[in-house]
Order: sequence, then structure tokens, then C-alpha cells
Amino acid sequence: MSRRAFVVANWKMNGSYRANAEWLEAALPSLRGAHTACDVAVCAPSVYLPQLVQGLSQSAAMVGAQNCSEFAVGAYTGEISAAMLADIGCDLVILGHSERRTLFGETDVSVAKKVALAFENGVMPILCVGETLEEREAGKTLEVVTSQLKAVLDHCGIMPLVAGALAYEPVWAIGTGKSASPEDAQAVHAALRDALARVDAEAAARVRILYGGSVKAGNAPALFAQNDIDGALVGGASLKAQDFLAICRCAEAL
Ligand code: PGA
Repeated sequence: MSRRAFVVANWKMNGSYRANAEWLEAALPSLRGAHTACDVAVCAPSVYLPQLVQGLSQSAAMVGAQNCSEFAVGAYTGEISAAMLADIGCDLVILGHSERRTLFGETDVSVAKKVALAFENGVMPILCVGETLEEREAGKTLEVVTSQLKAVLDHCGIMPLVAGALAYEPVWAIGTGKSASPEDAQAVHAALRDALARVDAEAAARVRILYGGSVKAGNAPALFAQNDIDGALVGGASLKAQDFLAICRCAEAL
């Protein structure tokens, strides 16, 4: 791994004031001290972002949202804009997660608009791409992930991803306990980097490509040992501070 490692917690729709405070209390001693060799971020439901911005202010850890609006401002009841995320001190935002694409109808086009707005407002996007089991079994993995990526590259170029990150998350591996093998994940990461390099080879070498899908401390070292796997987007195993910190230590060790 030649780029600086990046490990991101995705709490999804979990947490409460009290549970988050306990997580922070357990994690802060580690997050304040080490992690010189690894960037760390915690992505929480939007209502808890101020709690995290405050709670992590004495640490190097960054704070992320899990979505933002594809619109800049105005009559969009219930939406949260990228500018609002920036306003409360949020550093980054996960965009195009497969749960957003499949459950909430997000398209390549809406995801690309979100990436552009996040970047313009100084919120680093973590763009997620990934294939379903059906698509994998039909041999379409590379076609699916590169076309998801291309929609964003065509709309806003590569720089948002240099600032943020790209995450490969096979849909069949998310929350299932069934991670992609390090070799299979590496093959997809390498193809994604090739697609980035067709836009700008120098910038492509700087983009962090994270793997997501049932990452735990047990499988993280073998994943992180792959050339193009620069860190992880961690769902289930990020809900307990100690489990998440154990994955961060695997990234630091490399
Ligand atoms: P998981 O989720 O680690 O629980 O598989 C990953 C994600 O959806 O970001």
C-alpha cells in the first residue's frame, strides 16, 4: 500500500446520544494518540454530526455524513445540503452507497451531482461503487463498477476523488459476513485505478481506493496487503469502538 491508509467507520442508521458518547469515550484515547500512519473517519447519521464534530475535535479523526442532497439550496423538504454539512464542520460524506442506490432510488446521475456539490463545498466525497451478486455471477463486475465510476468522472473529473476516496463495496459482501477474497477485491481495485488513470495517470496514483464489505480485524491484514487496497469502509465492525480500532491498527501496521 503506497498511499496513506484510510479507515472509515460507517455507522449507518445506528446510534444514540448515549451510545455515541460511550463509543467516543472508548475510542478517544487511541484516536488522540496514534494513527500517524493512517487517516481515520467516523460517518454518523446527520443528527449526530455535531456531537461527533465536538467529540472528535481533540483528535485527528475526521467526521463524515452518509449522504447529502443533489440540490444546492431551496424547497427540498427533508434534505440536507453539502453546504450545511460544511457549515457544521463535517469533513467528508459517503455518497452512492449501495443502500442509497437500491433502497432510495439514487442513480449514477444523482450521485454524480452530489459528488460535485460536496467537493465544491469543501466536503470530501467517498464515492461507493459495487456490483450485486447477480451481476458478479453474470461476469459483469468490472462493467458495472467502471460505469458507476465513469458517471462521476464525466460529470466532475477526478479531483473530488483525489481529495476524498473511492470505495469498492460488492453488494453481496455488505453486512453478510462474506467478504470478497483479497485477490478478487484487488482485481476490481486495479481495474478501477486503470479507469481513473485513463483520465489522469498522476492523479489516479493518488486516489485512495477503500474496500468495504464485511471487513473485520481478522480479514483486514490480507486485504490491506494488496497493492491497490488503501483502506476500508467498515459498517458492522465499526459499531463497537474496540473492533473498529483493531482494524485501524491493521492499517497502521502496514
Ligand atoms: P459491513 O458494511 O462492514 O457491515 O459489511 C460496509 C458498508 O456498507 O459500508
